[in-house]
Amino acid sequence: MRKIKVKLAKRSYPIFVGSKIGNIGSYLKKQSFTKKALVVTNPKIKKLYYSKLALSLKKAGFEVNLSLIPDGERYKNLDTVKKLYSAAVKYGIDRKSLVVSLGGGVIGDIAGFFAATYLRGVPFVQVPTTLLAMVDSSVGGKTGVDLPQGKNLVGAFYQPKLVWIDISTLKTLPKKELRNGMAEVIKYGIIKDAGFFRFLTKNVDNIYDIKTPVYEKIIAKCCKIKAWVVEQDEKETKGIREILNFGHTYGHAIEALTGFKGYSHGEAVAIGMSIAAALAGRIGLLGKSSINEIKKLISVTGLPTALKKKLPLKKILSAIYKDKKVLGKKLRFVLPIKIGKVFVHKGVEPKKLKEVIK
Ligand code: NAD
Ligand code: GLY
Repeated sequence: MRKIKVKLAKRSYPIFVGSKIGNIGSYLKKQSFTKKALVVTNPKIKKLYYSKLALSLKKAGFEVNLSLIPDGERYKNLDTVKKLYSAAVKYGIDRKSLVVSLGGGVIGDIAGFFAATYLRGVPFVQVPTTLLAMVDSSVGGKTGVDLPQGKNLVGAFYQPKLVWIDISTLKTLPKKELRNGMAEVIKYGIIKDAGFFRFLTKNVDNIYDIKTPVYEKIIAKCCKIKAWVVEQDEKETKGIREILNFGHTYGHAIEALTGFKGYSHGEAVAIGMSIAAALAGRIGLLGKSSINEIKKLISVTGLPTALKKKLPLKKILSAIYKDKKVLGKKLRFVLPIKIGKVFVHKGVEPKKLKEVIK
């Protein structure tokens, strides 16, 4: 088991990587919460992991309440949050109770936003069960829901009190979801740690074989990098947290253009990272061998480096300009200057981007 600390003064918290769901109660027992908990999960994850979690909390003296929400991004909305508010009133959740999210990024984002806003803030614990949630969404305090007009348009920065990662939950995660998370894992190597990138390249043959020692290292390394970024720029006001969007500008555009059906998020990010690497090459910032290394790692993990089917260039560009992270008319891109180091380019020439996309 590895412990990583996210250092944010009074909002600091630990991430335990390689802990067991069944042990969470004995850890929480020692903290100063009232002995009331509301677990938020969906029916699929409830079947797999809720009884272990509930038993552990009950053994530690907690009164455990459950609120089930349907599975899927389409339920990541304010109606679902409203249902959670009603459940919280019904169960008498107070400011010292605990909200525990058990699930992937969808559950974590919804439960986190609910915890941030109910009674102006109730302590919140993340128990992520997808690779993406373990390495990305459970850490850093971004919580929120979607509006019909777009994803994650309503939200709050609200740090959890604890992130409890039980890697063995990945055994039941479909391969497609593991691949999604792998795109974010590769992202961390490119943005911040060349040694980690090479570790992934070396271990690529068993990258989907959930052997705890390898996975523990991978997940802990990603959490460490994310913690470092969040500590520098918790609320994304200094242009540092933006580096986590590497691959996401182009990725979001193709997800939006294909109605969130053509590509999974991980696939879109993987293509976005390949485009960003090629763009950096075109501008003369990144050498050919690094571009090839990036593309090779992406493709050997089963992720795409290019679109399956051409999309009109005009539409891609207009989707990029619509992205909420495009400020003014300037094209901002997170670009690698070598493996392990990126920077935010604040004025990419549209001509160069067009050439690369073509
Ligand atoms: P998800 O939460 O939809 O989970 C994917 C699927 O796997 C779901 O069907 C889920 O029920 C199932 N599942 C979860 N754990 C399982 C397990 N152990 N075994 C079997 N099935 C399991 O998807 P996700 O990729 O985890 O999260 C995507 C969401 O995360 C998006 O809404 C995105 O906006 C958000 N996100 C948030 C942040 C952040 O910083 N807050 C960062 C990245 C992504
Ligand atoms: N997933 C991007 C961030 O947390 O900032």
